[in-house]
Amino acid sequence: MALSEQVKMSRSNGIHVAFAVVIALVAPFFIGPHHASGAILSQDSAAAGHRLAEAWCGECHAIEATPTPKATAAPDFAAIANRPSTTALSLKVFLRTNHPSMPNIVITPDQTDDLVNYILGLKRN
Ligand code: HEC
Repeated sequence: MALSEQVKMSRSNGIHVAFAVVIALVAPFFIGPHHASGAILSQDSAAAGHRLAEAWCGECHAIEATPTPKATAAPDFAAIANRPSTTALSLKVFLRTNHPSMPNIVITPDQTDDLVNYILGLKRN
């Protein structure tokens, strides 16, 4: 291989390396917004949870942030959300186990997440 060719090769390798460095530096800016959209995703999830709650839970529970009292034994979702003992995990466990007074609604894991996001979103403090 002629020397001039080698020089050309190493120069073009250098350009590739520079390119890779530029991509490595710029990539986080493209990846970054996905992190930011996590909040939007959980808002979408809470909105889906609200719709599910209206369809499935509203018969017994007052499901809105400002509950209109219901003449049932079921606690308001806002009251549940504001209990110090309520966490995503406690809600998931509750929804997975038998809710004695609840008709046999089959809630998928995704729907459980949506309902939990909705209920936790009612928390005041
Ligand atoms: C047929 C009426 C009925 C329906 C429908 C119903 N619930 Fe309930 N729920 C109750 C009653 C009554 C209680 C309180 C007694 C108990 O804990 O089982 C309760 C309790 C709960 C609790 C636990 C509160 C605590 O004390 O920790 C959660 C969470 C809950 N419901 C969520 C839901 C969700 C989410 C839905 C809809 C998918 C739903 N419920 C639908 C009647 C109902």
